[in-house]
Amino acid sequence: MPTLSPTPKSMKAWTISRRGTPQEALKADHLPVRTDLKPNEVLVKVSHAALNPFGYRMMWAVPSFVRVKPSVPEFDFSGRSEKLGKDAESDFVLGDDVFGMVTPSEGVKLGSGALAEYVVVARDHLRPKPRSMSFEAASGLGNVFMTAVSLLEKSGLKSGDHVFINGGSGGTGLVLV
Ligand SMILES: NC(=O)c1ccc[n+]([C@@H]2O[C@H](COP(=O)([O-])OP(=O)(O)OC[C@H]3O[C@@H](n4cnc5c(N)ncnc54)[C@H](OP(=O)(O)O)[C@@H]3O)[C@@H](O)[C@H]2O)c1
Repeated sequence: MPTLSPTPKSMKAWTISRRGTPQEALKADHLPVRTDLKPNEVLVKVSHAALNPFGYRMMWAVPSFVRVKPSVPEFDFSGRSEKLGKDAESDFVLGDDVFGMVTPSEGVKLGSGALAEYVVVARDHLRPKPRSMSFEAASGLGNVFMTAVSLLEKSGLKSGDHVFINGGSGGTGLVLV
């Protein structure tokens, strides 16, 4: 499994162990870096993480007993690929600039979110960062980009079809446009 040299054993991360507002629930913490990747996973060194209104709602609404504890919140990030699972080697090389998202269900089940120095994600939730885009800007793309792409895939649209995009000024709408 190729890797960039040497990944630290622990990282700084924001974690939550209880429900509440960010002020009540967030704690500056240290966690182990997960390097035992499944074949389809990629370890990313996070450059920027984005704060999504949904992340706030999850902090507030998800009952404590369904979470892994401690758990790292938030979903969207940009960064650099640090270690690749075997199957991810066909999509990425080490050191690629990427953006992506942790799915909310993975975030809750595995406790692994974007507000950390490293994040592990499935390769299909990761894309190369456009060169013209900064890490800051790309960190806000993951959720809306994956939503827009999955909408397009499910829509059955063909080249030449006309579509009205409602809410075209929003995150998902802009990506679709
Ligand atoms: N994975 C998922 O299932 C998933 C992921 C992301 C988003 N979503 C859903 O997709 C939708 C868009 O999300 P987003 O992140 O792109 O939101 P967003 O960035 O807040 O954009 C919302 C868009 O809706 C427009 N809008 C708001 N109120 C309106 C109204 N009363 N009449 C007409 N247009 C109105 C806004 O227009 P203005 O700019 O003019 O206010 C804006 O274009 C939301 O319903 C969200 O819950 C689902």
